Amino acid sequence: MNVETIQGVTAVCQTVKTIGNMQMDVCFYMIDNTLIDSGPYRLEKPSLEMITNSAVDRVLYTHHHEDHTGNGAALEQLGYDQWIHPLGQDICAKDAEIPWYREQFWGKRSAFQTQPLSEMFDTGKRTLQVLHTPGHSFDHVALYDASEGILFTGDLFVQPRPKSLFEFEIVPEHIQSLQYLLEQDFETTFCHHQGYLKDGRQALEQKLNYWLELTERVQEEASRGYTIDEITKKLFPKQHPMNIVSEGQNSPKHIVQSILTGKGVTLY
Ligand SMILES: [Fe+2]
Repeated sequence: MNVETIQGVTAVCQTVKTIGNMQMDVCFYMIDNTLIDSGPYRLEKPSLEMITNSAVDRVLYTHHHEDHTGNGAALEQLGYDQWIHPLGQDICAKDAEIPWYREQFWGKRSAFQTQPLSEMFDTGKRTLQVLHTPGHSFDHVALYDASEGILFTGDLFVQPRPKSLFEFEIVPEHIQSLQYLLEQDFETTFCHHQGYLKDGRQALEQKLNYWLELTERVQEEASRGYTIDEITKKLFPKQHPMNIVSEGQNSPKHIVQSILTGKGVTLY
């Protein structure tokens, strides 16, 4: 567990390891009396120990995915009030139905009750603006503290040049959301898988440019008559282990497809 405090935000990052040599960091944040995301169920013990020994008494979620909401049920039992975007509430109210490889990686996510986020959230000492920023998931929000110039980007950054996406992700929405975030006046940036980002604004700009350039290339290939599968092979010739493990649910094809159709597919 790596814990650091920056501008009054305590960042808690932990590593999850699984099948093969795959591993990923996942972070939650504590700001005044508010916890932002609760981490995956596989990290329940250390996460709850950290949370229950802090000043936190309420939980705010960036989106419903199991690596962010995995300890919601346990926190509910402990009496914490929890908030999520209205579009994520029904999903959280049921046990997560996720494919085996995601459950293997992050653990189960049991049902818990939430309240609907509105445009502002009071953390006790500051006010966070709730910015609806879909693309990674339909209920995704980023959180912005305008007075301190702090931005929590949820899963909109994660990596600068992804070569594969989940079937539910939509590149044109990623682009719009990144443009919206870059309109805000922020310097300090927190990513929910990379932790504190040193040059956060630059990182988001880099990612936005990557999506814009890729969109142009995909559209160009499509205008020459190439199909989605042909464009995918041409632009992303290498396979990532995640493409195989997920049986195509996480694949470069979803990048190309969502650029050309503007849509994703929601299976889970
Ligand atoms: Fe996510």
